[in-house]
Amino acid sequence: MTVLQSPRPLGVDPYSTAVLLDPYPFHQQLRAAGPAAEITEHGVYAVGGFEEAGVVLKDHRRFSTTGGIGLADARKPGANFRPLNALLEVDPPDHTRLRSVVNRILSPARVRQWRADMERDAEQLVDRLLDQREVEAVEQLVEAYIFKVFVDAVGVRFDRDAILAIGAMSFNQSGPQNQLFHDAMRRAQPYLQWFEESQQREHVQSTGLAAEFFAAEDAGEIGPGIASNLTRTFVRGGMDSTIAGIGSTLMHLSRNPDQWNWVREQPSRARNAFEEGTRMETPFQVTYRVTLGDTDLHGVHLEADRKVGVYLGSANRDPRRWPEPDRYDAARNTQGHLAFGGGEHNCIGQMMARLESECLIAALARRVKALEPAGEAVWRPVNQMRTLDTLPLRLVAA
Ligand code: HEM
Repeated sequence: MTVLQSPRPLGVDPYSTAVLLDPYPFHQQLRAAGPAAEITEHGVYAVGGFEEAGVVLKDHRRFSTTGGIGLADARKPGANFRPLNALLEVDPPDHTRLRSVVNRILSPARVRQWRADMERDAEQLVDRLLDQREVEAVEQLVEAYIFKVFVDAVGVRFDRDAILAIGAMSFNQSGPQNQLFHDAMRRAQPYLQWFEESQQREHVQSTGLAAEFFAAEDAGEIGPGIASNLTRTFVRGGMDSTIAGIGSTLMHLSRNPDQWNWVREQPSRARNAFEEGTRMETPFQVTYRVTLGDTDLHGVHLEADRKVGVYLGSANRDPRRWPEPDRYDAARNTQGHLAFGGGEHNCIGQMMARLESECLIAALARRVKALEPAGEAVWRPVNQMRTLDTLPLRLVAA
């Protein structure tokens, strides 16, 4: 009979500002603690190895999303929970049914239709910024681009301050009720009604994905109320994540001129550059599952009804899977990285995120000879997300 170990206790708070700003020493400790550890501060399990993370993500019968993908267990009374996400926080077979409808709406053919517009928007934006030479790339380049192309594609209303405040709320809400959470909730307060209304039928554009969710609801393919829930999920899940991934990629490219030259030789390599950027600075650092019964993970016993944090950011730098994991190498074979999750709930918007990033980075590669740091890149502490606050860049025209 195999003797199961208990998860090793870890006294580090992964939601402390120090860890959020530099999560990598914590990740090392987590991986060294074995297949699963216990984060004593929050009473949850944590998994940081690549292989173990894959096991948890791919086994919904043991590790379910129905307790919510954040730290709190949505099933417990008083968990102070937002409305559950109709796609992400349900298990098969309900998940499978809804996912097949959304897959049809967000098909590869549909994503390809956006390419021409996204390329044109990227080129126009880069041309405008080139006159300036120095830019704050998070706001002027990446946010400006995603706020245009994503909002057009999904067909929702746009207000920059509101979108930023809602994003900060979403990704701090999935952690503990620390100062970051309270600050983000306060900041979002004036926009909550705006956000609620923006997902309703009368406020969405007739040409975007959101209108198609409502059409599917009218056709009875999805239940009442699901279209606005999906629209909410897309707005919350699809914008900040892509901004984070492109920002980090540009930071690494600006620090590695040889890598930038490699991308410039063939601008379609922008896609590899982005994959490597999201592997290294995984936007969703952690997602949660709940154990549906007593179980084990590679010889470690996990009790029933406990939350398990799957540290995607740590798995993506696990040296057992990635040679020289802390080195940015745009030419690396990144296949199988977990920045877009894994298993049934793997990111449904990943093709769109890849297209957006490819269009923007390739437009830069065609027009910018040198992409240089023009100051310190500053990380923004967010409970669930690794994202830059500011990235000053000098753009030298080709
Ligand atoms: C770099 C950009 C992105 C990253 C890193 C990212 C990451 C992820 C991850 C890790 C998951 C799985 C979460 C889990 O298993 O708990 C996920 C799911 C999801 N993502 Fe993304 N995402 C990105 C862009 C997008 C975009 C552009 C959209 C919308 C167009 C989107 C919509 C969704 C949805 C709806 C799900 C839930 C899928 C399901 O449960 O079946 N994401 N994403």
